[in-house]
Amino acid sequence: METRVFQQSEIKEAAALIKKGELVSFPTETVYGLGADAMNDQAVKNVYQAKGRPSDNPLIVHVASIGEVYDYVKNVPKVAETLMEHFWPGPLTLIFEVKEGVFADTVTAGLNSVAIRMPKNEATLELIKEAGVPLVGPSANTSGKPSPTTAMHVYHDLKGKIAGILDDGETGVGLESTVLDITDPQQPTILRPGGISKGELEDVIGQVSVDKHLVSSEETPKAPGMKYKHYSPNEPVIIVEGNKELFQKAVKQYGSTGEKVGLLADDEVVEALKDKVAAVFSLGEIDDIHSASRRLYAGLRYFETTEASLILAQAYPEAGIGTAYMNRLKKAAGNQFYKEHN
Ligand code: TXA
Ligand code: MG
Repeated sequence: METRVFQQSEIKEAAALIKKGELVSFPTETVYGLGADAMNDQAVKNVYQAKGRPSDNPLIVHVASIGEVYDYVKNVPKVAETLMEHFWPGPLTLIFEVKEGVFADTVTAGLNSVAIRMPKNEATLELIKEAGVPLVGPSANTSGKPSPTTAMHVYHDLKGKIAGILDDGETGVGLESTVLDITDPQQPTILRPGGISKGELEDVIGQVSVDKHLVSSEETPKAPGMKYKHYSPNEPVIIVEGNKELFQKAVKQYGSTGEKVGLLADDEVVEALKDKVAAVFSLGEIDDIHSASRRLYAGLRYFETTEASLILAQAYPEAGIGTAYMNRLKKAAGNQFYKEHN
């Protein structure tokens, strides 16, 4: 199959493919999604196939308005209305009790709940309206790989497997949406940290819980996708929790064991050590967590094109979007942190 790349002026053509049951990747403010008609069973099955995604991992449904949610779910609690008014369009996914028979069965992977969000991207909102159906949209990467933040990343993973990609340049947030379970409206619970922080949610609706697995690795996550290995480049990743002095020690240590080190860190660290390593990718200015979040996946992907055999990646404080950044980086690293040898 030829994979076409569509520009903004070609949204109608992209929508026509969706209506025919084809797969078209779409841009969002977080990462690129793999779009298909959420009411078309075969199209949704093809999404799992193209990604190589386990069939027990349900998909997010993307809508173009708040109003249509009422057609798809059993009830819309007050807290959901408040959240939608406040954060949509935007990087917040809500879990509702699903109405039976609305979506293709495979969308919810057998659960009685459904994940819905309204992305903040004009081209994609137009694509959904033009297609006339809500779109499923897992991240448009091969399962297990870092999520795509450019159309090129999507092309790299899925060319020949999908009909098209709607190109809108680099995504802004760079990490996936926050997944919030509001099926118990008394206790909204974060299942996946993301573009909207716990603090931002609490400013609007009061206390928010966090799924136990995010605090203790003993617990099974409530979002099925959170239990899988994820975001992993081919090279091992090791997290460095410290400044350029600590990076310097790590570079020296791994260099002496014959590793070709790739450095994924802020400008200051990169500048100080770029001549001593095999490859570098800058996360941006020092202490800029938004830039680091936007560039993390591109960075992890970049090293696959270099001779680096190991990636040293910078830790950031776990606050605001830093919580999501560290959640993804720890998964990419299999939780490995650099420990200084004496
Ligand atoms: O930012 C995003 O959310 C991106 C863009 C494309 O919108 N999409 C995305 O989709 O990250 P995906 O499929 O890669 O991740 C969806 C997550 C998975 O962890 C999945 O298990 C969880 O949401 N999820 C989906 N439906 C659920 C449900 N009914 N209950 C609990 N978790 C659910
Ligand atoms: Mg994903």
